[in-house]
Amino acid sequence: MKKFLVVTGLLLVLVAALAACAPAAAPAPAATAAPAVVAPTAVPATEAPTALPELSGDAIRGGVLYDHWMEALGVDAPADNQALWSTQTSNKRSGADSWRCKECHGWDYKGVEGAYGGGSHKTGFVGVKQVAGTDANSVLAALKGATNPDHDFSVVMDDQALTDIALFLSGSQLDSTAFIGADKKASSGDAAKGQTIYEENCIDCHGPEGLSMNFADDGGPEYFGTIASDNPWEFVHKARFGQPAVEKMPSLVDVGLSDAEYADLLAYAQTLPTSSPVTEGGHLYDNWIKATGVADMTENQPLWASQTTNTRTGNDTWRCKECHGWDYLGVDGRYGSGSHKTGFPGLLSSAGKTSEELLAALKGKDHDFSANLGEPQLNGLVAFIQQMQDLKPYINDDKTTTGDVEKGKTAYTANCASCHGEDGKSLNFGSDTEPEYIGTLTADNPWEGFNKIAYGQPGEPMIAGINMGWSWQDITDILAYAQTLPIK
Ligand code: HEC
Ligand code: HEC
Ligand code: HEC
Ligand code: HEC
Repeated sequence: MKKFLVVTGLLLVLVAALAACAPAAAPAPAATAAPAVVAPTAVPATEAPTALPELSGDAIRGGVLYDHWMEALGVDAPADNQALWSTQTSNKRSGADSWRCKECHGWDYKGVEGAYGGGSHKTGFVGVKQVAGTDANSVLAALKGATNPDHDFSVVMDDQALTDIALFLSGSQLDSTAFIGADKKASSGDAAKGQTIYEENCIDCHGPEGLSMNFADDGGPEYFGTIASDNPWEFVHKARFGQPAVEKMPSLVDVGLSDAEYADLLAYAQTLPTSSPVTEGGHLYDNWIKATGVADMTENQPLWASQTTNTRTGNDTWRCKECHGWDYLGVDGRYGSGSHKTGFPGLLSSAGKTSEELLAALKGKDHDFSANLGEPQLNGLVAFIQQMQDLKPYINDDKTTTGDVEKGKTAYTANCASCHGEDGKSLNFGSDTEPEYIGTLTADNPWEGFNKIAYGQPGEPMIAGINMGWSWQDITDILAYAQTLPIK
């Protein structure tokens, strides 16, 4: 155990000597105090001596590591399950999940005595609530296997990471029992005040109604409001410490929120919607196989055989966009020629049809998607079709746009650069040899780019422009700027 002391050698000796002869426990920090970063300070010679040196580190980072230390540290999960995992049989997860602190001890820190006392997450393991307010040194020892050799995390994390977690557990846990009822509802808290907290800290990324990102990768949908309602303890933990590997998401502990204010934020978050049919429909139109996570299609779509110009097979033959186009014009638009040509009609003229008519079309004989998509999903597609835009006012035939590049640059920098990079090259949608970046895609196919910016990316927590409150013109501005980014 090393401590970062900025003291003279003499003082060091003195502190060490005092520590050696006085094994008293350190005064317990208040359980709910929020020491954002425990600064490495010198121990004044006059302060009461402690058994072990006071640990220094970052309790906020500790909270993030408690959530998912592998994601946060950017490391792969160990090959085997955590050693203690085999001592239980009720939780069927495996691999990385078996190594997450939260999986065994809970988002409410109560283990078997809390929300994970039943259901698929049940392990029967103890909570960690009881260590709040105790000496961080003894928590650190438990993380190194002092109480149980199978609970030794020093083999997978360095000392500083473990110290940060120990500081979180001893000094920065929040007991939410007072404001989260047994029915998961915020039992106290002022939603109006919570809205102000949301608008000051969360709205820029999560959008006016918390619908900008759909976190689900298996159909979902799962939005900001969904997590607040379904798992308020997870919500509060992430609000306090941030999201692993998402550096820009703030920690409200860092911001300095009081305990009562978490009740306010939760009360507000639970009023937010948990579905967004139009963007869900947009994801399905783009690629419903990816959006829902269903198995690959082995047969071609039945109507596929009625054309011969487009020689793709399998999943592609089932994508709405493949037959009806990114510009929604089918054979009358971009897919009227080239390798994507099928000769099938567009949908823009269907936008005015009633829900009943559109649902009937989606359940038609050779055009029946009801075997793979449920009622809410079909309704999402209907909602999407009914608000389809003619893209001609925004994108010209020569692929230039009517967007304002300068405005688009500002919006891109604020909303896209964190994931895609300032130059749009952080994420490569193509291959190493044939890279495809935002710049490449929007230059080649601005209609596809428009759809991605407006509705997001199926199966990825990418923001959907229309749920950020952006107009079609705002979306076109970003598209215009994206076209100026490097293509390789
Ligand atoms: C596979 C399940 C599992 C995982 C993962 C796990 N723990 Fe534990 N933890 C346990 C069990 C079981 C105990 C009780 C150990 C014993 O026998 O003393 C325990 C005990 C503890 C204790 C001591 C509690 C006390 O009352 O003294 C702390 C603190 C703790 N764990 C923190 C963590 C942290 C932090 C992590 C993540 C780095 C973590 N645990 C990951 C299962 C787990
Ligand atoms: C700078 C942008 C940004 C801000 C500001 C922001 N978030 Fe996030 N948030 C994200 C991103 C990106 C994700 C992660 C998506 C992913 O990869 O799963 C996320 C995920 C989350 C999740 C969890 C989703 C999951 O997968 O379980 C919660 C809960 C959350 N944020 C709450 C908040 C709260 C509360 C605030 C305001 C205090 C906030 N966020 C502010 C960007 C942000
Ligand atoms: C294999 C090509 C193909 C795929 C994939 C496809 N469609 Fe169609 N779609 C057609 C054809 C051809 C028609 C013309 C009517 C017919 O033959 O059923 C049509 C008609 C429609 C109509 C009715 C138009 C009207 O006004 O009568 C709607 C709505 C529609 N499709 C939506 C979708 C949606 C949504 C998806 C994705 C879930 C989809 N289609 C996938 C080929 C396809
Ligand atoms: C929270 C992270 C995040 C943010 C913010 C984000 N994206 Fe994305 N985006 C992704 C991910 C992840 C993918 C999927 C990458 C892949 O498929 O390899 C993606 C994919 C895309 C694609 C197309 C991929 C394809 O199918 O070929 C485009 C275009 C795109 N993003 C544009 C944008 C624009 C423009 C913005 C800002 C308005 C933005 N993204 C904001 C994460 C993000």
